[in-house]
Amino acid sequence: MQIRKNIYQITGGMWGYLGNAYIVKYSEGYVMIDTGSPNALDSILENLNYWDIDPNKITHLLLTHGHDDHLGGAKYFKEELGAKIIIGKEDVRMLEEGNLGEDSPCINHTMPPTTADILISEDCFLEIGNLVFTVITTPGHTNGSLVYLIHLDNESILFPGDTFYVEGNQGELILSGWKGDLTYDSKKLGESLKKIYTPRYKITLTLAGHGIPRFGPDSIQEAYASYLKNDR
Ligand SMILES: [Fe+2]
Repeated sequence: MQIRKNIYQITGGMWGYLGNAYIVKYSEGYVMIDTGSPNALDSILENLNYWDIDPNKITHLLLTHGHDDHLGGAKYFKEELGAKIIIGKEDVRMLEEGNLGEDSPCINHTMPPTTADILISEDCFLEIGNLVFTVITTPGHTNGSLVYLIHLDNESILFPGDTFYVEGNQGELILSGWKGDLTYDSKKLGESLKKIYTPRYKITLTLAGHGIPRFGPDSIQEAYASYLKNDR
């Protein structure tokens, strides 16, 4: 589904799979934000083909966190097609071991394992062609969760992964979704939301790890207010 001139959603609930993934077109190719569930790969490739997006031109995989419904296609796009993997340092073990960690009660959540190219342990900027991603560490949903932000075509677009997302008939905000990861930490989630709750980030579009796109401002502000009210 084309969301903006240079942004597409290529998997998620609309196709019957858990975990959204997005494509951002840039000067030399495409960046993929998350890679969907392991069983979604054929459907993702079908969608890429429909939109005339050459999978060989996907150069970077920006992963929001280590869960299988976000890393499912990572091995394929890296090892078959040569894309580079960027992931939070604290979550890389899930990628490398192909599950949620040996201590996890959810080891049946498996995905094809692979290795990372860039590990993120602090906030930074990532320059990819004409795009500059602001990468923000947001532990809470998992310890290595990352939020990505870009300014593109006069918009500020936030990819919050599962830190918060938008669902339902009226676009209600959901904090963190699944709280089953052993590194889930409500206090850290609050600190992360507080950190991104700042006038510096005037978001106009939110594209999260689950649910629907949220057009307009204030998604972070509403998420933080909801946290203070319900999740503290
Ligand atoms: Fe998750």
